[in-house]
Amino acid sequence: MSTDAVRPLTPDPARPSSRGPGHRHPAGEHAPSSAAGHRARPDARLRQHAFPSDSKHFRNVLGRFATGVVAVTAIDEATGEPCGLAANSFTSVSLDPPLVAFCVAHTSTSWPRVKAAGRLCVNVLAETQRHVCDRLAAKGGDKFAGLSWSLSPAGGPVFDGTLAWLDCTIETELPAGDHVIVVARVHGLDKHEDGDPLVFFRGDYGRFHA
Ligand SMILES: Cc1cc2nc3c(=O)[nH]c(=O)nc-3n(C[C@H](O)[C@H](O)[C@H](O)COP(=O)(O)O)c2cc1C
Repeated sequence: MSTDAVRPLTPDPARPSSRGPGHRHPAGEHAPSSAAGHRARPDARLRQHAFPSDSKHFRNVLGRFATGVVAVTAIDEATGEPCGLAANSFTSVSLDPPLVAFCVAHTSTSWPRVKAAGRLCVNVLAETQRHVCDRLAAKGGDKFAGLSWSLSPAGGPVFDGTLAWLDCTIETELPAGDHVIVVARVHGLDKHEDGDPLVFFRGDYGRFHA
């Protein structure tokens, strides 16, 4: 990232506002202070750690973005066994066509198995499924041992207690640094159990308060 990424918040006095002195922000009291004739004060904290200089700092900062957690599952074509991984990078993408996406690290050993299956099931995990998340995030071993699950209409594993499931096929994979962005087409979906979501925040699990 270039140093251009750091911009002082103070308006440049050499560049008068093109809105003119009479302009009022349509949001009224929420207008930026500069529009009301004041200068935003620079906050010294905003000048610190402006670059993703190390991975720990990058993770710490991005960890302040709260997410849900999904389990991406499939039936391994070669063995007939269930496989999958936990992911918090899941997002909806498009309504027409119906697309979702998530990111997978190149180091994942489960993703090649899910990918080979051709179809996958996204489980939206509930707060009560922390143990499912832990298992799916584990490396190696039988991740599904002792867990209760059934098959979705398209044949993907749906864990008991899952809030919602989506039957998908892989639409495209986009390389993105040390991850691949997987765009998946949704062929069927439904809510499953009622409950609160599993929330991931600052490297830990939190609770959802409406
Ligand atoms: C809360 C949580 C979220 C995760 N999100 C992702 C993710 O978005 N992408 C990813 O590749 N791995 C993610 N992981 C790690 C994977 O679940 C898993 O640990 C990793 O793929 C290694 O297992 P594997 O070799 O069986 O794939 C996450 C783990 C946890 C606990």
